[in-house]
Amino acid sequence: MLETKKTSLLLLNILEKITSDSSLHSRFLNTLSYLEYIGNRKMLKSLPSSILNHFFLDHINEESRHSLILKRLAQKVAEKDMTFRSDEMIASERAYNYFQEVDHYSLKFNFKDPVLNYFYTSYAIEQRALLFYSLYNDTLKKKSFPFSLDVILNDEIKHLRLISEQIQKRDENWQNNLDEISQFEHKKYFSLLVDLEKSVFNIASPFPPYFSLKKNKRRFIDYQI
Ligand SMILES: [Fe+2]
Ligand SMILES: [Fe+2]
Repeated sequence: MLETKKTSLLLLNILEKITSDSSLHSRFLNTLSYLEYIGNRKMLKSLPSSILNHFFLDHINEESRHSLILKRLAQKVAEKDMTFRSDEMIASERAYNYFQEVDHYSLKFNFKDPVLNYFYTSYAIEQRALLFYSLYNDTLKKKSFPFSLDVILNDEIKHLRLISEQIQKRDENWQNNLDEISQFEHKKYFSLLVDLEKSVFNIASPFPPYFSLKKNKRRFIDYQI
């Protein structure tokens, strides 16, 4: 249910269009940076200091690093500085709402342990990030882009394992709850993809396609920090 052929095909179609146009591509990378930034901010707000061992601090730090990596890539592709203004992103309002709606949905479970709200939201979104980034990374590799998301993907695998351990330790009904929130997330993700597709096909690019623009200028972009 989490990933269907329909959502994968829709995403691949969007990625094909985005990665063929440097203006769209920079805005897309900037949108992903924004989502990582929201994730980082949510962790800082939601996690009580009483549970902050080094694993959690690492996790907080890594989400901030993902935002920075993606921002640097966005700016390299755009060849200019970028902020999180909506005209520098794609479907940013829907992207923000996607995060908020999944987060609010977990409140309906009324957990005695309030940290569980954060863990369920985070699990659903980390799981999605892994699938989404994997397809995007495959597209980047297939089209021989000079950067990849390998570093981010390795972190996301680790985060998912860490959160899954916490959920199983804190909630006996974790399997049913995870299924329910994942199904809700999938609906919101599908709406996000539909809006992303509409925006991508509506944005008129002032630039020629990425390949012709960059053909003779390719170099490996150093996104490590
Ligand atoms: Fe991340
Ligand atoms: Fe993560």
